[in-house]
Amino acid sequence: MAQYILTIIYLIASVTFIVGLKMLSNPAAARKGNLLAAAGMSMAILGTIFLYKDETGAYLHNYAWIFGGLLIGGIVGTLAAKKVQMTAMPEMVSLFNGMGGACAALISMVEFNHLVSEPLESIHHSKVLIIVLGLLIGSVSFAGSMIAWGKLNGRVKDKSFAGQNIINIMVLALAVLLGIYLTLQPQHALLMYVIFFLSIVYGILFVLPIGGADMPVVISLLNSFTGVAAACGGFLYDNKVMLTGGILVGAAGTLLTILMCKAMNRSLKNVLIGSFGGQTTASASGATSQGSYKEISLSDTAMVMSYANKVMIVPGYGLAVAQAQHTCHELEKILTEKGVEVKYAIHPVAGRMPGHMNVLLAEADVNYEKLMEMEQANDEFATTDVVLILGANDVVNPAAKTDPASPIYGMPILDVELAKTVIVNKRSMKPGYAGIENELFFKPKTSMLFGDAKKVLQDLCAEIKNS
Ligand code: TAP
Repeated sequence: MAQYILTIIYLIASVTFIVGLKMLSNPAAARKGNLLAAAGMSMAILGTIFLYKDETGAYLHNYAWIFGGLLIGGIVGTLAAKKVQMTAMPEMVSLFNGMGGACAALISMVEFNHLVSEPLESIHHSKVLIIVLGLLIGSVSFAGSMIAWGKLNGRVKDKSFAGQNIINIMVLALAVLLGIYLTLQPQHALLMYVIFFLSIVYGILFVLPIGGADMPVVISLLNSFTGVAAACGGFLYDNKVMLTGGILVGAAGTLLTILMCKAMNRSLKNVLIGSFGGQTTASASGATSQGSYKEISLSDTAMVMSYANKVMIVPGYGLAVAQAQHTCHELEKILTEKGVEVKYAIHPVAGRMPGHMNVLLAEADVNYEKLMEMEQANDEFATTDVVLILGANDVVNPAAKTDPASPIYGMPILDVELAKTVIVNKRSMKPGYAGIENELFFKPKTSMLFGDAKKVLQDLCAEIKNS
């Protein structure tokens, strides 16, 4: 009876994962979708703890260990999630993803040791194969995610050496070959530790040379690896919900990786082995290679915006850095009270992680109906009086359309130039993520409003209120 109830619980949990994932695609439903899938996962975990029976018909009994682990993990996870800054979110995702990979690798090790304690003739090669796959993929994901985490918080620097790609391929090939050998000859149990070691080395070497700014794409890829490793665990235990969850994470991670590459108009190969960004080609102030730019004062900005019919705000990475989302919403409310129509233009890869700007603005309670996706926003710029760019750079760089030699050539951008006036807020003339100058800043329609986004927005709100 308990097994039937458990199967039904797993079925319900799997449905909550699928429905929850679907709900994540809409900002209005995303929070509920997350909660729904979390509730499904809690059901599956509790069902397993209390209803699962092993082959001998015995229930789980080591409750002190299970609930001890759940309690410690739950407290650490909750505190970390509550404390994390929005700009440090990719870091945290990477750390949590690494833990998932480590779990899959540990499961493989424990199960391999169980398996080889049985008589050799009774060992199924297919089971060893699943264990080896879980170990290999989980370990790569764990080591790679830890390096990505270190890079994002500045503890690990980009490192590459001559012939690195060849060495990487050799290490991976050796791990795979040993994995095949172990599958066929499982009595050589020590090989499992060699495969574990090689996979860890590969995970480190694979992520180490990738530019720090490309980490979100790599994390998404490693996330899909963790999903596949967890799905291996599902096969191993014949656990449907683990299998469904793993496959969903694997598929979603892969799709996200492809979408991010597409939105940046870069191939995955270019992300993984090409160096991108970092090099500064513009000076911190004054005239640059593109000519000179004009500045606008705070009071002039306040006036231009107050008298506009329609204002479009373009948020970018700098808004997240400045943590100015609440002040930005404040400005929107003040302008709206003055009868100005205010909307936000959201580029799919603005910021440093998928949906970064949506999450940032949702945190400040900005009505998601005011958020225009890129295509929609591009249709509206021609009827916009003022575009206010807040800490965005690459996503409004016309070189993506006009300069075939530019590293961002082909990336879709927000056509802010179609508006009557463009005001750009950033702290200096320094480039953004791609490390390239932005010709938009030198156009006759564009004016620069220098300063930290939060301070500028606070002063702007005060100025407009008093005008
Ligand atoms: P960026 O091109 O990185 O530009 C951000 C700008 O913000 C910088 O030029 C910086 O100029 C300014 N800034 C930084 N701190 C600021 C502050 N406190 N106040 C005001 N301005 C500040 O950002 P974007 O336009 O959002 O483009 C995102 C880039 O990241 C794209 O190239 C994209 O391909 C890449 N990327 C995105 C993702 C995802 S999924 N979102 C993943 C990987 C890579 P100053 O230093 O002069 O202030």
